[in-house]
Parts: sequence; C-alpha cells; structure tokens
Amino acid sequence: MTDPTLQPPRPPVDAPAPAGETRPLKLFIKSFGCQMNSYDASRMADALAPEGYSETGTIEEADLVVLNTCHIRERAAEKIYSELGKIREMKEASGHKVTLAVAGCVAQAEGAEIIRRQRAVDLVVGPQSYHRLPDLVRRARETSGVVDTDFPVESKFDHLAAPSAAKTRARGVSAFVTVQEGCDKFCSFCVVPYTRGAEMSRPPEAIVAEVRALLDAGVREVTLLGQNVNAYHGVDAADRGWTLAGLARTLAGLPGLARIRYTTSHPRDMDAELVAAHRDLPALMPFLHLPVQSGSDRILHAMNRRHDAASYVALVAEIRAARPDIALSSDFIVGFPGETEADFADTLALVRQVGFASSFAFKYSPRPGTPGADLPGHVPDEVMLDRLHRLQALLEEQRQAFNRAAVGRRLDVLIEKPGRHPGQLGGRSPYLQAVHVDGPPDLIGTVQPVDILSAGPNSLAGRLAVAVPTPVAERLAS
Ligand code: SAH
Ligand code: SF4
Ligand code: F3S
Repeated sequence: MTDPTLQPPRPPVDAPAPAGETRPLKLFIKSFGCQMNSYDASRMADALAPEGYSETGTIEEADLVVLNTCHIRERAAEKIYSELGKIREMKEASGHKVTLAVAGCVAQAEGAEIIRRQRAVDLVVGPQSYHRLPDLVRRARETSGVVDTDFPVESKFDHLAAPSAAKTRARGVSAFVTVQEGCDKFCSFCVVPYTRGAEMSRPPEAIVAEVRALLDAGVREVTLLGQNVNAYHGVDAADRGWTLAGLARTLAGLPGLARIRYTTSHPRDMDAELVAAHRDLPALMPFLHLPVQSGSDRILHAMNRRHDAASYVALVAEIRAARPDIALSSDFIVGFPGETEADFADTLALVRQVGFASSFAFKYSPRPGTPGADLPGHVPDEVMLDRLHRLQALLEEQRQAFNRAAVGRRLDVLIEKPGRHPGQLGGRSPYLQAVHVDGPPDLIGTVQPVDILSAGPNSLAGRLAVAVPTPVAERLAS
C-alpha cells in the first residue's frame, strides 16, 4: 500500500527572471506529508514568484531549497534530518549560494531546535507564516538562523499571492483548495492540533473566488482541504455562517466545475446536511475518506475519538442510503497503547462489516507532547507489525475486489494527462482509481464515459464509451 506521506516530485513551472539579477533564482521544494502540504508548496512557490524565484526539479541548481515537512509519525519527522544532511553536503559543494529552509509541521513543532541539530539550515518557517516568506527568505539570505513559528493574528490567506493562469494550467486539471486549517479535536495520538493550531475556516467568498480563478485557467476538479474539513464554518461578509454542505452547493453551481471532493472528514462532523449534499449534488464525488482509526470502543475512547464503532457503522449506512454508489476509505492505527488482540479483532470485524475501497494503516507512533505518548500498555513492535500486516492484507483484498468490480462497468473518467504510451490518456474514476484509455490529447480536461475492460493492481484500463467527437476523429484520420 502506498504511504500518503510520500509525494511525487512537483513539476517545474517557470516564472519571469528577476529584475537586476544576473542569473534567475531557482527554487526547489520537496513536500512530505498530507495534501495540505502539497497545496502549501504551491502557495509558497506563488509567494516567491514575485521575488524572482522560478521552480526547478533539479535540486543542484536551486538557490533556495525548501523542505516542506511532516511531523505525524516519528519516521516522517526523522527522515527530514537525513535529507538535511544530504542537502548540507550539496550546499557545501555548490559553486553558488544556497539558502536552506525548513517549512511545514516539523518546523512548527521543533522551531530553532532544527538549526541546533543541523547548522546548514538558514530558515525555519511554520505553516501559518508562509505569507511572510518573501521577507523571511531575503533575511535568511543575508543572515542565517531565521526562525518564524508564530501563529500570527493576520491570516496568511489574506496575503498570499495567487498563481498566474499559466502556472495553474501547468499544475493540471485537478486542484487542491484549503478551506479549513487546524484541528480542535485533540485525538490523543495526533500532533496536528499543535502543529497546525486551532481550527480556522476561510471566508466562503475567498474560496469561491479562488475556485473561479482555477476554473478560468482550466481546472475541472477541486478537492477542498482541511484537517477537519467537515467542521468547516466560514463566515461571509454579511456575517452569515456557512457549512461545508453550503459551500459545496455553491461551488457545484459554478460553470465548468465538474467534480468536487473534500478531505479529511471526522465522523463526528458528518452532519445530515452534508449527507444530503451527497444525495443532491452530482458533482460531489461518491468517494469519501472517513477515518475511523480502530473498531474497538475501548481504544476509540482512549484515542479521544468521541465516537464508537456502532455509530461509525450507522453513519456509513446513512451515507450509503443517501448515495448508494458511494465508496469509502479510511485510516487505521494499530498498536495504540493498551490495544489487545480482542481490540484488534474488533478492528478487523469493522473492516469486514463496512468494506473499504482503499485505506491506509499505520503502526502507532508515540509523538512528543501528545497525551497518547504517556499512556501505559505499550504494544511490542513485533506485535504491532504482525497486526499491521494482517490489517493491510484485509484492506488490500478489499481494494482489489473493489477494483475488479469496476470491470464491465461504465465509469465517468476525468481525463487528466497524456498516458505513459503514445496515444494513451490517464485519468481518474469517481473513486480516484487511475484509468488508462486510448484517445486524443484534446480530451484532457473533459469527463468521458469509459467502459472498464480490466483491473490491474494499481489502475484500470478502459475504452472510451462514445465515439471521439468528429473534429478530433477527422484530425486523427488525417
Ligand atoms: N484529520 C487528519 C488526519 C491527519 S493524520 C487529516 O486531515 O488528514 C492522517 C492519519 O495519520 C490519521 O488518520 C491517523 O490514522 C494517522 N496518524 C496520526 N497520528 C499518528 C500516530 N501518532 N501514529 C500513527 N499514525 C498516526
Ligand atoms: Fe489529528 Fe484527530 Fe484532528 Fe484528525 S481529527 S487532525 S486525527 S486530532
Ligand atoms: Fe503531516 Fe502536518 Fe499534514 S503533520 S499529515 S504535514 S498537517
């Protein structure tokens, strides 16, 4: 199973050369962690473009290297220090001045400690200060050792530069938009409430404007992001409160927006209005990531999840009644302190009862400063590993079965990019399955009905269900 904390390298996007510079400045950003970090990486690049930085995919030519980090599990956080060690060597061997910045959740959690552990780091910047990046980077290029891990009163979203239409186009037809950030849930295993801070929701007008700009540049699908996205409670200029369902309804009315997704949801915030939105809005994709973490009530309680297994199962039934073709995915943690074999059996039972299209399972990682880290009942590593493997085997079985069940069906596919082979296109089903079809590149950015012919381990293959529109067919024939 793919670890969501590993992200593919971002494609380079060009920016104009800076005035008065002999050599254009190059920026290399490497992101770890969740989709919000990917979104943030784009916004950091957008914030630095007016400073003359253009993105490069080659770290050796970068003047500014940003590691956009994740603190969720120990391995994710420790990986950063080995990366930093490698970059230090590169920096020392480089013939030009390289500024090294650490952003993201490790930056927020560890602050100046990062510079103490790795002196090659010039700048540490937490997620709420990205709008200050131009100034911070200028300072860090003069004197290293700059640290900004404030939670400023002003919202970064009011100050971050927007991307150009060309940049948005280069990023593809599917885009992320952060609508909510931070978390007030305090699950006892999780660092996010500390690294991303308290919940805040962006005003609906700003979100609608951002989505409109994306649509004008050719985007067809938006994924609304938040650590607790269904707790969204934006307030508009007329002081009216908005819910995620209301936001989705408004966005669904925007011409050109074919698909809306949102992630990540908490079961407690999955209210009736949002369930009804899944029934009423065809643009809202029938695929929902709804982490449950465990199937044991005892463990759910210790995790401070504030729901039990039965209420999760009942919620899923309610959602399926509203949208029968919906598929679900989830996150699971095995080996939380005190987890017995019987608790773990409850998790397996819940997975069998619900049936997931795809999921992530993790070994519990005690995180400094979280209440879980102080709990007794440490589960030995080999027990955790054994449970992880058993759970992953079941989840993988369900994922493969779900993919096989697509064969023979006609699915709408958003065509996103050219495929690996000439004449091939790559897209996504409503369930985020990768789908390959043969077809002309003109179809990129359109939703096409596709007859699914076969299912591989990680993708589906299909055939366009309707004849390619005449002008394209003529061009193909000529
Ligand atoms: N609501 C969040 C969840 C972020 S963390 C969101 O917006 O995505 C993603 C997943 O990592 C969690 O659902 C949980 O399964 C896992 N996770 C979080 N803290 C963890 C820890 N200390 N050890 C192991 N896994 C953890
Ligand atoms: Fe972490 Fe729980 Fe908040 Fe998700 S809901 S970000 S798991 S504290
Ligand atoms: Fe990681 Fe921070 Fe996201 S800890 S999962 S990058 S919110």
